Amino acid sequence: MNYKYSIEDIHTVDVDAVVFFTAEFDKIRDKYLNRVDALTQGAVTTLFKTDEFSGKKLELALIYQPVGFKARRIILAGLGQKNKIDADTFRGVLGMLSRMKTVKNSKKLALSFKGFENPVFYQAAVEGYFLGSYKMLDFKTGGDRKDVNKVNELSFLVERKVGLKQLEKAVLKGEIIAEGQLLVRQLGNTPGNFLTPTLYAKKAQELARKYKFNCRVLDEKAILKEKMGALLAVGKGSSEPPRFIILSYKGRADNQAPIVLVGKGITFDAGGISLKPPLNMHEMKNDMSGSAVVLATIMTAARLKLPRNLIALMPTAENLPSSTATKPGDIIKTRKGLTVEVINTDAEGRLILADALDYANTFKPQAVVDIATLTGAALYVLGYEGAPILGNNKKLLDQLKAAAENSAERVWEMPIWNEHRESMKSGIADLVNSAGKPAGTITASAFLENFVGDWPWAHIDIAYMDMEPKGRPYLPVGITGFGLRLLIELLSNWKKS
Ligand code: BES
Ligand code: MN
Ligand code: ZN
Repeated sequence: MNYKYSIEDIHTVDVDAVVFFTAEFDKIRDKYLNRVDALTQGAVTTLFKTDEFSGKKLELALIYQPVGFKARRIILAGLGQKNKIDADTFRGVLGMLSRMKTVKNSKKLALSFKGFENPVFYQAAVEGYFLGSYKMLDFKTGGDRKDVNKVNELSFLVERKVGLKQLEKAVLKGEIIAEGQLLVRQLGNTPGNFLTPTLYAKKAQELARKYKFNCRVLDEKAILKEKMGALLAVGKGSSEPPRFIILSYKGRADNQAPIVLVGKGITFDAGGISLKPPLNMHEMKNDMSGSAVVLATIMTAARLKLPRNLIALMPTAENLPSSTATKPGDIIKTRKGLTVEVINTDAEGRLILADALDYANTFKPQAVVDIATLTGAALYVLGYEGAPILGNNKKLLDQLKAAAENSAERVWEMPIWNEHRESMKSGIADLVNSAGKPAGTITASAFLENFVGDWPWAHIDIAYMDMEPKGRPYLPVGITGFGLRLLIELLSNWKKS
């Protein structure tokens, strides 16, 4: 996308469409909209007199061939209640706007931010534009392939050119963050047959080369050498071998201990021998979205040059039933040495995370955050409205909560109590991998806790937050990419716990 910053007057700017934001039409205070009204000989007044547009919610209205304007269209964008306008308002309204036919058909689009000149709004607007118009087109062969936005120039109409640096930075940051989130969506949308652990590792290596971070891949031999018995046990039902992907990005000259991110990378989860029911099983191609988030986070951190030392661990495997698969009742040995009685082969995420969390010790991390589509039970905790978080360190969890506020990716803390811990103990092995339905999100975390070292740890369960069922302003129906903005915000404002 080409970005332009222009001090041109609103009526002379030569674009296909120019956008004005408004919360309500206040003739006296809203001098910018007043100007549009005067130039168009009262078109704005006329519009507000109808019940078609009030600006008091996220909504859009079009003025065709506006008199007094060089632009071919004016778009009025409603921001909702004036005292509630924040960055997410702009993310939302641009998300909606990005799907308007008029916008799709435009090559040059101008946004008038007069009255809303906050860099954070610029950043969120750019994010919303890209997030709202995303479509997975890789597997379309016909005319659908062309259903993409034609906008190649986005102009920002600014008051003065002084202080532009800050706005330019915000805009580029918005584009980079949106691209990070779109990578998560793209990988999540890629079906299991195109994203096996092996192909996933290749993809990670390509991205590492392109965006200048490091990538090391452990194949099944190296995984065996590392004694990652849990990862191997999950992967052994498939003819596609597991891979353990290690990414690193060094944003600091000093040798400060790294922050380690861990993401669940099940490229398809059939449940194994504890087979899932067929309805919606296809959605389990997205059971790698936690690992996609940590991959995209490293990519985005590298592009933004965040001053942090980061490691990302992506244990990846296919969870399938077969004659070589792990069976319910089997006992396996984890990298740490703890034995696990596999009650349910569909509780595979915690197994591969167990080995990855233990492997994190080798980096002497200052903190570890894992993110995973771990438990269906998460849906019954917060619905599609936020992700449960759990952990062992208040400071780290508080940082995550603050990051959630700023990124509009919501989280809520849940406890882990001793009774939950007790329920994960096995009669004949050290641990069971499932304690059944009650408090499923918590007991999964109580299991993970056994593999956490002497460092601050937080776990984010993104099951169901990875998929949007109804569609929202900047989250079209389907895979969301939830977690990328959250982690980037966390790392941007990082304080040692
Ligand atoms: N990948 C699933 C969790 C999931 C379910 C994510 C639905 C997104 C949507 C996970 O591997 C799983 O199957 N968990 C089981 C655990 C149970 C057997 C203890 C679950 O939640 O039912
Ligand atoms: Mn499962
Ligand atoms: Zn799973």
